[in-house]
Amino acid sequence: MKITPQAGKKFGVIVEGFDAETAPEQDIVELKKAIYTNKIVVLKNQDLSPRQFLALGERLGRVAEYYEPVYHHPEVKEVFVSSNVKEEDGRQVGVPKTGKFWHSDYQFMQRPFDITLIYPQVVPSKNRGTFFINLATAYEKLTEELKLAVKDTTATHSVLRYFKIRPTDVYRPISELIEEVNAKTPPVTCQTTFTHPHTGETVLYISEGFTSSVRDAEGNEQPELLTELLTATGQLDRTYEHENIHLQTFEKGDMLLWDNRTLVHRALHTATPEPAVSYRVTVYDDVDAAA
Ligand SMILES: [Fe+2]
Repeated sequence: MKITPQAGKKFGVIVEGFDAETAPEQDIVELKKAIYTNKIVVLKNQDLSPRQFLALGERLGRVAEYYEPVYHHPEVKEVFVSSNVKEEDGRQVGVPKTGKFWHSDYQFMQRPFDITLIYPQVVPSKNRGTFFINLATAYEKLTEELKLAVKDTTATHSVLRYFKIRPTDVYRPISELIEEVNAKTPPVTCQTTFTHPHTGETVLYISEGFTSSVRDAEGNEQPELLTELLTATGQLDRTYEHENIHLQTFEKGDMLLWDNRTLVHRALHTATPEPAVSYRVTVYDDVDAAA
C-alpha cells in the first residue's frame, strides 16, 4: 500500500495498492490515520461488490444504516444509493440529486458519522466531482474577532430545508410532512466548535444546508454571526472559487473516504446531468480517541 499526497491539491492523499479483501489490520490503521490527518483518501483501482464495499466499511468502524429506507440498496440495506438512473423496469433505486448543498452527513442527528465512504458506480464523463471545505483550517483562518464571537455559542442543525419529498409523500399536506420530519428528526443543538477527537484540531461545525441558527451563551439567536461564519468558510460563494473550496474529482475504480466531522461537502450536479450512480457507506468510529 502506497500513500502519496494529491498533487496540486489543498488536501487529500492517493492510496495505491490497497486490496480491500486481503488488507492486513496495519493497512486499516494507516488508512484511518490518513483519513483523520489528510481528510480525504482516494483508494485507486477498487472493484468491489456492494457486499464487499460494506465489509470494508465494517473494518473501519460501526456501519450505520440510513434512517430513510428509500435510499437503501435493494440487496444490501447498509449501502446508500444516490442515482439518477432508472432500472430497466422503470423502478427508481436510490434517490437522485442528493447532497446538492453544503453539509456534513447526518449533521442533523445527535451523532453524525465519523467517516463517509463513497464508491462511484456510474461515472459521468464531465462535471464529475464533489466540493469540500475543511472546517478545521477554515476555523484557523477566521479573524481573532470572529473566533472570539463564536466562543461559547451553540449551533442548531435541522434536516428540514433539505428533506427530500419521497414518492409516497405526493398529495400529503406539507404541514403534516413538516410535523412528521420534526418528530422523527428533531433539530439538534451543540457547541458551534468542537475539538477533533483524533487530531486535536478545533472544527467550526456549521453548514449552509443544515445549520439553522447560532445562539450566544444567553440563548439569543445571532443570524448575522451565522452568515459571517458561512461567508468566511466559503459556503456562500456561488462561484466555488473561494480559496477554501477544494474540488475532488474521481474516475471509475476510485473510492473516496473522508473525515465527515471536519469537512462539509457539496455534490456537483449540472442542469443537464449525465447518468451518475454512487454507493455510500457511513461509519461511526467508536475507538477511544485517547487510546
Ligand atoms: Fe453527503
